[in-house]
Amino acid sequence: MSPRFSLGIYKLCHALQFLHITHKNLSFFSSAFSLALFLSQKGPSFISQGNLERKKERMVKICCIGAGYVGGPTMAVIALKCPSIEVAVVDISKPRIAAWNSDQLPIYEPGLDAVVKECRGRNLFFSTDVEKHVFEADIVFVSVNTPTKTQGLGAGKAADLTYWESAARMIADVSKSDKIVVEKSTVPVKTAEAIEKILTHNSKGIKFQILSNPEFLAEGTAIEDLFKPDRVLIGGRETPEGQKALQTLKEVYAHWVPEERILTTNLWSAELSKLAANAFLAQRISSVNAMSALCEATGANIQQVSFAVGTDTRIGPKFLNASVGFGGSCFQKDILNLVYICECNGLPEVAEYWKQVIKINDYQKSRFVNRVVSSMFNTVSSKKIAILGFAFKKDTGDTRETPAIDVCKGLLGDKANLSIYDPQVTEDQIQRDLSMNKFDWDHPIHLQPTSPSTVKKVSVVWDAYEATKDAHGICMLTEWDEFKTLDYQRIYENMQKPAFVFDGRNIVDADKLRDIGFIVYSIGKPLDAWLKDMPAVA
Ligand code: NAI
Repeated sequence: MSPRFSLGIYKLCHALQFLHITHKNLSFFSSAFSLALFLSQKGPSFISQGNLERKKERMVKICCIGAGYVGGPTMAVIALKCPSIEVAVVDISKPRIAAWNSDQLPIYEPGLDAVVKECRGRNLFFSTDVEKHVFEADIVFVSVNTPTKTQGLGAGKAADLTYWESAARMIADVSKSDKIVVEKSTVPVKTAEAIEKILTHNSKGIKFQILSNPEFLAEGTAIEDLFKPDRVLIGGRETPEGQKALQTLKEVYAHWVPEERILTTNLWSAELSKLAANAFLAQRISSVNAMSALCEATGANIQQVSFAVGTDTRIGPKFLNASVGFGGSCFQKDILNLVYICECNGLPEVAEYWKQVIKINDYQKSRFVNRVVSSMFNTVSSKKIAILGFAFKKDTGDTRETPAIDVCKGLLGDKANLSIYDPQVTEDQIQRDLSMNKFDWDHPIHLQPTSPSTVKKVSVVWDAYEATKDAHGICMLTEWDEFKTLDYQRIYENMQKPAFVFDGRNIVDADKLRDIGFIVYSIGKPLDAWLKDMPAVA
């Protein structure tokens, strides 16, 4: 099924679902009313008019600072599911907000367009007027980036909370009424305490309640994940005020999330659970990738091993695909952060344990590059290599920490000429990624190097056939569905011989490709005779 067709079906389903929701609005009114009532108990700052009728009319206002991959989709879904709540998403980046207000949203995410179109201008607004919307809000989500520090204490590991702190100071400056401040960004444990200090030291008598509400969505399936989350986690202070604030946020989610899926904890547990969840997920990928190396050495097949392992109900089948490595803005950053926290808490053994997850990920990427180079007579100098897929996973245009960056840099280091095709990533983004230093990518664009030098041996094309024409080899680095159905006979005919395919995602039918004439490398699977005879790569 083509992505466009799937999107059409998705939109249709969504429209039907929305009808159902509007039908259910009657029940929403009662929860919206109880929410308004709760807020009214917080005094005149939340609901200025004393009479009940006015309270009923008063719309609860949410403001989210940070219109990125988390802030945008999360708030769009809150607006869709809670018509009685007004949601403003604000950002310091003018181009980003302009894109949110246009037909070309700044991020690609299946189903997102339909949700935004439904609510934008109704109860969902995107704005650069950060202060105005924070001033007006009852609940302020903070969903700014929390990159790895590049300089100073903890550089290369600790989370850089510069953006968080400046958002907190701004909230303290502009607020004239009590507010609930919600940590949506992934932050180190105990960040809430620091934020609380900033807010209360500047509070002018205003009461702030801090909640931790980490986001578990996965890019590529964000809308699905937000519609049906496995769980929503909210941490709050164990004081009456803290619990009240927690209840308020719980009622927002209760518009569409079953109560038993809304978990409540103390602040620190919520903060740590997010880091722990990402560490466990990344660890699973590194575990299966470590096994993939052993499979290649022994003749075992990682897909068979994963299946056999995953049928154990204690382990489960998900997240057991071997690949060229994990990427994305979170896994590495959050594990590094966890490592740093462990070190700061005098737990070097625990830090060392988690560090290994990243080491295996780096090993897997360099192992892949070595495999490519060694298979092609130990040199790729001046050879054209087609790179199919640059995003860190399918169904997103996000390239943050994508394994493609390290693989491309490795091949460029051996003087290859790269021809790159990804259905969602622009040439500008690819050039930026390949010329930027590690960790610079997660800073706002105005803080990134102004004119990244163009990497000359890289061309970016808009078609897989163009990318592979006259190439010596193909590296499949993202599991886009369209790569499964390419005309590989045609591709083979237009390539140099011997023609190689290095499948970093195990998406092609290797036997079929071998029948055509390709030499195929699939991660963790028994090696072609050709590859076996080449020098060891580990
Ligand atoms: P992002 O980089 O896409 O968006 C962050 C936005 O915050 C940027 O547009 C930036 O301009 C804006 N910003 C920074 N400082 C600001 C300020 N003072 N005032 C207004 N706007 C400001 O980041 P993304 O991916 O949305 O991540 C946000 C947080 O959520 C991070 O902590 C991340 O670890 C976490 N997270 C990310 C997930 C993902 O899949 N991307 C999933 C779950 C959590």
